[in-house]
Amino acid sequence: LENGVARTPPMGWNTWNTFACNINETLIRQTADAMVSNGMRDLGYQYVVVDDCWFDPNRDGAGNLQPNLSRFPSGMKALGDYLHARGLKFGIYQVPGARTCAQSVGTYPGSTGSLGHEVQDANQFAAWGVDYLKYDWCSGSGTINDQVASFAKMRDALRATGRPIVYSINSNSFHCCTGPQRSWTDVSNMWRTTEDITNRWDTGNTNGYPMGIKNIIDINVPLAGHAGPGGFTDPDMMVVGRGGMTDTEMRTHFAMWAVMAAPLIAGNDVRSMDAATSTILKNSRLIAVNQDSLGLQGVQVSIDSGRRVLAKRLSNGDVAVALYNPGSGAATMSTTAAAIGKSGSSFTLTDAWTGATSTTSGTISANVPSHGTVVYRVSGGGTGPSPTSSRLVSSSSGRC
Ligand code: DGJ
Repeated sequence: LENGVARTPPMGWNTWNTFACNINETLIRQTADAMVSNGMRDLGYQYVVVDDCWFDPNRDGAGNLQPNLSRFPSGMKALGDYLHARGLKFGIYQVPGARTCAQSVGTYPGSTGSLGHEVQDANQFAAWGVDYLKYDWCSGSGTINDQVASFAKMRDALRATGRPIVYSINSNSFHCCTGPQRSWTDVSNMWRTTEDITNRWDTGNTNGYPMGIKNIIDINVPLAGHAGPGGFTDPDMMVVGRGGMTDTEMRTHFAMWAVMAAPLIAGNDVRSMDAATSTILKNSRLIAVNQDSLGLQGVQVSIDSGRRVLAKRLSNGDVAVALYNPGSGAATMSTTAAAIGKSGSSFTLTDAWTGATSTTSGTISANVPSHGTVVYRVSGGGTGPSPTSSRLVSSSSGRC
């Protein structure tokens, strides 16, 4: 979406993966303070997103959304001001239908979705200083054939406010024509491509709730042609630091999100991170790959027994290459400089995890542990035929 924001994948933090409905302004403020003091903000984690359950179950007499004042006694404008004063940005959650997901399943009372209130709510968000809206399709939001029109209605309402607001949507997520196979660049800045993530490697689900890291990678890698500045595929908020997986698997999760140009939205409790989690989320080499100004999603160069090689062209002519091994044993994985779009006879490889450098005349190879991912930044030489794909044309008019 060409609305001036999200020229690179949005980075930040979201309440849902750890706290679900149990949120309040103290938590958000403490999280914001932690993101400043632990260095996350300065690495690019900017958007602090308050997911479901922040609102009062009733609109006011004029139909305006109101904060849940027992959770957010200072109100949402004050929360936005708090974040802005610390160099952070304010994200909030709403749905196109009558009820948020928590309201739909009955874990939170009321019926305060934006249906019929789109312009009023967009104006309210802008007045509160909102910089990012997560707009989440839940059951009861309408029929699938309404999805494109529903999401476009809020896009237009946000644009009309004149405030630059990142527009993040979840079509929820496997609906024909409006699921992952649709390029939503005409509607939003980022769009979910899978069901909800969970902190497991493999749940066995390819299109059901919840999905593991491997399952999400399988869905999101083939969608590379959809991504570019202003519009990114969203394989869901991260679970780095949530337990349930090995450090190797957590590193793969972060590395693949980085190379897939995914929004990097942390979902752990960043007020108390262990050293491994902190090292992963603050890997500045991978963040640089993710935030590269070309905004390209890594494309698959080869696949062998499920082991994938991805290449992501970068703005200075370097190429990031990911060697991803979902197999049950370690494997030597290889590609070549030519295959990832480089020309020449001498290249420097910088390992994104260790920082170690080596030189090669063309072979790019590593022994990759089971469930591991090695990422090299390949520099030197010239630019060869690119493995980058162009954006796909939107595959659907929204009708199934
Ligand atoms: C479903 C989404 O996929 C989650 O990320 C979260 O926003 C919940 N809804 C909130 O109810």
